[in-house]
Amino acid sequence: MSSAASSEAGVSIGAEAGTMRYSYALHFRAGTMPTDSATPLHMIDIIRKKRDGGELGAREIAFVAAGAADASIPEAELAAWLMASWIRGLSLGETRALTMAMRDSGVKFSPAGLGRRTVDKHSSGGVGDKTSFLVAPLAAACGVAVPMISGRALGHTGGTLDKLEAIPGYRTALTLAEFEAVIRKCGASIIGQTDELAPADRKLYALRDRTGTVENPGLICASILSKKLAAGLDGLVLDVKTGSGAFLRRMEDTESLAALMVTTAEAAGTETVALLTDMSQPLGRAAGNWIELVECVELLRGERPAWSEDLRELSLILAGWMIHLGGKAESAKTGYTLAEAALDDGAALAAFMKMIDAQGGDVSIFDNMEGFHKPGATKVVEAWESGFVAEMDTTALGWAVQRTGAGREKAGEPVDPHAGILFHARRGAKVEKGQTFATVFATRPELLAEPVEILRQAVRFSKTLPERVALVGRVFTKDDAEEYLRTALSR
Ligand code: URA
Repeated sequence: MSSAASSEAGVSIGAEAGTMRYSYALHFRAGTMPTDSATPLHMIDIIRKKRDGGELGAREIAFVAAGAADASIPEAELAAWLMASWIRGLSLGETRALTMAMRDSGVKFSPAGLGRRTVDKHSSGGVGDKTSFLVAPLAAACGVAVPMISGRALGHTGGTLDKLEAIPGYRTALTLAEFEAVIRKCGASIIGQTDELAPADRKLYALRDRTGTVENPGLICASILSKKLAAGLDGLVLDVKTGSGAFLRRMEDTESLAALMVTTAEAAGTETVALLTDMSQPLGRAAGNWIELVECVELLRGERPAWSEDLRELSLILAGWMIHLGGKAESAKTGYTLAEAALDDGAALAAFMKMIDAQGGDVSIFDNMEGFHKPGATKVVEAWESGFVAEMDTTALGWAVQRTGAGREKAGEPVDPHAGILFHARRGAKVEKGQTFATVFATRPELLAEPVEILRQAVRFSKTLPERVALVGRVFTKDDAEEYLRTALSR
């Protein structure tokens, strides 16, 4: 399609990552997709077309995805296509075609035999974000099947799989048959991406990581959704983070990505909602691996520790949506009430322990959670000023957690299950100088200094109470997301 044949609207969006600032354009091109012919396709033609601002058809996009999955297209050509796509932007049609082609690049999990609606939750990553350990058993306890495929820590964000692997014996690598058997038995299963699911994403994501082409809304949308849709979900709840710990910092970027993901997943037949949620401080009071599981199990046991209330509330809200999309509640609000009942009567705790046991995990360690915690080194950090906790640079705090040994610098490195940071005060809390503010657990004593220094730089105290930030901001259902994109197109 020539650019003259399409009506084009560019929405400029940008993002900040640490001290780096970058921006990119999200181009929505309205109009019809080009008609595909049966002529043979050549990668060089596809690269040149994208480079020159053309819009690719579904057949061309499928050619790229299949070539990435079976390695028939060399990495240099895929990298050139990725960079052309990053610079030119992907249209809505291209984004949808890429998502479906990547979804279809491997085997699919078909949970139809489970006899229940299947719903998953995806979070765009954060610090102390451990809602998966609450929402999966909460939704399962309310009769929803939860096939959850999760990731590992990389960069400043933590990883669900690394946290689960703090439990001796827990297997995150199951076959699809084992995955289904655990869901059938326990209602939920949390595993890592298998080699068979969405292999085009595996190849393209690794290349994007090496070629500076990660931060593109169309590519992010296709990457996240291809894996989720390959799991054959009926419903999907997206938790898109905002604030100092979020991947995208500007609100309009976050909103654009949320709307793009909701409309794309809906077009693929998965009922989807996106909630914009606060990451202007770590979620809950623990950030690490084992200590995050402890915080969740305390909540599942009905305890209400100080500074875990935001985690409890967000988990109930997300679970409420999952239960609603799972057909077990008329609304997300009713779903919340059902989830809270499952928390209070211990049904969610039982579902979580059953899942851990079914995946080989030693549940006896939860009988003495403090006794199991054996960090190599511990440092208590006292408040260095009196006042209100006013600001937390959550991305920096995420790096502090990573430096304790809880995260990794390079993919494939081991992580320390016992490392991490416990916060004893949150935004808005009034502290006195000398009061315990945080406890840092590291692998070795010499690893304590750097996270402690980052922590001290990342937190600011003030004399006045800081403005409250809402835990949940905008919610995008299908209609809201379509309206948002229509408005973006008309600007
Ligand atoms: N997570 C993914 O799986 N893919 C992306 O592109 C970004 C986050």
